[in-house]
Parts: sequence; C-alpha cells; structure tokens
Amino acid sequence: MKELLKKAKFFHLLERSEILEILSDSSFNEELFKSADEVRKKYVGDDVHLRALIEFSNYCRCNCKYCGIRSENSHIERYRLNKDKILEIAKGAVGFGYKTIVMQSGEDLTFRAEYLAEIISEIKKLNVAITLSIGERSYEEYKILKEAGADRFLLRIETTDKDLYQNMHPNADYENRKRCLYDLKKLGYETGTGCLVGLPGQTIETLADDILFFKDLDADMIGIGPLIPHPQTPLKDFTHGNFMLALKVMALTRLLLPDINIPATTAMETLNPKGRIIALQSGANVVMPNVTAEDVRSKYEIYPNKVGVNYDELSENLKKIGRTVSKGMGFRNKRRNI
Ligand code: 5AD
Repeated sequence: MKELLKKAKFFHLLERSEILEILSDSSFNEELFKSADEVRKKYVGDDVHLRALIEFSNYCRCNCKYCGIRSENSHIERYRLNKDKILEIAKGAVGFGYKTIVMQSGEDLTFRAEYLAEIISEIKKLNVAITLSIGERSYEEYKILKEAGADRFLLRIETTDKDLYQNMHPNADYENRKRCLYDLKKLGYETGTGCLVGLPGQTIETLADDILFFKDLDADMIGIGPLIPHPQTPLKDFTHGNFMLALKVMALTRLLLPDINIPATTAMETLNPKGRIIALQSGANVVMPNVTAEDVRSKYEIYPNKVGVNYDELSENLKKIGRTVSKGMGFRNKRRNI
C-alpha cells in the first residue's frame, strides 16, 4: 500500500485495480490524506480560493431521486431572483472581496441563454470570474454564455454507473450529460464535475470508474460529496453517504489530478462539524460560501441542514491551519507532463 501511495503521489497514475485496493483498505487512510495534502501544497499551494455562490432559482425540470428541489417536491416554495437582485448580491460579494461569482440554479429554462448572457456581462464588469452551475443545455446555449463572459461551468456526472444514473435521474440521459461535459470542455470553459458518494447500489468499483472518468475528461474542478437523504425525496429512508469514503475519493482525485481545483464541499461539512477543515487538509483548496440573500436561502434545500459559512470565522480557521485566502481568481494553472 505504501508503494501504491508513492506511485500515486509522484506519477499521478493508478490502475483501476490499484484505486480499488486503496478504497477497500482503511488502514492507510491517514497516509492517503497526508499524501493528498502534500500534492495539494506542491501543485496549488496554500491559497484557498473562495467562490461566492448565488442560488438564483430553485425551479427545476429534473426529478433526481435524491435532490430536495426535484420537480415533484411540492413541499417547497419556489423562487426566482431577477437580474437586478442577482446583480445586487454579486456586487455585495465583490465588495466582500470575492473574486469568483458562482451562479447556481435548478434546471430552470425560463432563464433563457440570452437573459443569462445579459446578467453575465453585467457581472463581468465587476472584474471577477464567473462560474455557472445551471445544468444541461445545448452546445449553442453554452456558446452564448461563454461568449458573454462565463469562465467556468460545474456539472457533476453524479455517477458513471450508467444504470444507476438512469435509475437516479428519471427522464434524464447519461449520454447527454457526458455530451454536455465534453461540449463545455470544447468551448473552453474550465469544466467542473464530480460525484455523489453513497447512492443506493453504488459500489467502490463505480467510484473507481468515477475517478478515472475525471482523469479522462481532464476536469479542471472536481466536487465530491456524500449523499444526504432529503425527507421529501424517494431516498428519504436511505442512510447518508460515508464521510470517510467521500474523503478518500476526494484525496485520490487530488493524487491523480494534482493541479486542479477541489472544493471542500458543503455536504462534507454538513455531515461532520470539522468536515470543511478536514477536507482542506486532505486535498481540497476551494470553499464555496453561499452569499444568497437570507430570505430565499432556506428554500434552496437540496438536502437538509445545509450549513453556511461565516467569512471572518473561515479566514481565522484557515490561518490556524497555515492557509491563506487567495487574492486571485483561482484559475487552474495547468501543468504539463503529469
Ligand atoms: N445530498 C448531497 N448532495 C446532493 N446534491 C443534490 N442532492 C443532494 C443530496 N441529497 C448535489 C448533486 C448536485 C449538487 C449541486 O448537489 O451532486 O450536482
């Protein structure tokens, strides 16, 4: 196992069977996390990039079995923020010092690409990077958004097990999701993807394939989080994903994709009060605090008890572990020959 970790740490390559070996053996977890932390430090340094997350609509045409804002959940109040409100929140976040605005929503087609483009070009005037997380759209729509100034896009593959994917996402199509990711790459977006850990029926083989998929896509960002069952979804009676397993998938991702951006996900923090810091010490280098206005934030409940971030408290905690809040926009600094 020590040899395997060394190989991953210095060559950033592992066979599927080797990934499986690491995922199935918990006696070397600490070494794994330490190796990921060292690779993180070597390739992306001690800066932590903070991305301001604006959840601008919780309307969603999708019906993902795990997600609290799925279309069939009639227990939540739906909202949409308009252009002025989104701009107001973005300006506030920029005033706070954020260098990236993440615009996230359910798959809400009332936000046509042209309207989103108007919002994007306004936010760009604030001299920040823009990340979109709005789900599946056509190549042409992604192109309009890119040309308006969007820099990055987040779209988790969720799982690379096609049958599990189809089961979890009624009316969705695994091939289309992949098509979106490759289109985004082609259009020059910094492309983020990721997976859920703890989906019913998911195996460590699937998780190994997920990691290899990230490498295959040459993803620029990877978000990994444990599943947290939401009471108003078909998965309400399932147990939550395993924190340690999610952390291991994240650490392995850092070892294999050493120069990418990896967030300490909110779902990790939600499961473990120290989750964010632990993740930052096991390969992560990004935090995405929610800056959506208080009055609507609680309505964007993809899973229950989603924790928030206090900016000052976070900077203090980062200092304590020898990390700094980045002053830059935090693009991927892609290294060659890895
Ligand atoms: N638990 C954890 N993560 C979830 N997501 C959606 N629902 C849940 C849940 N119940 C994640 C998905 C999605 C991201 C925005 O939130 O992976 O891509």
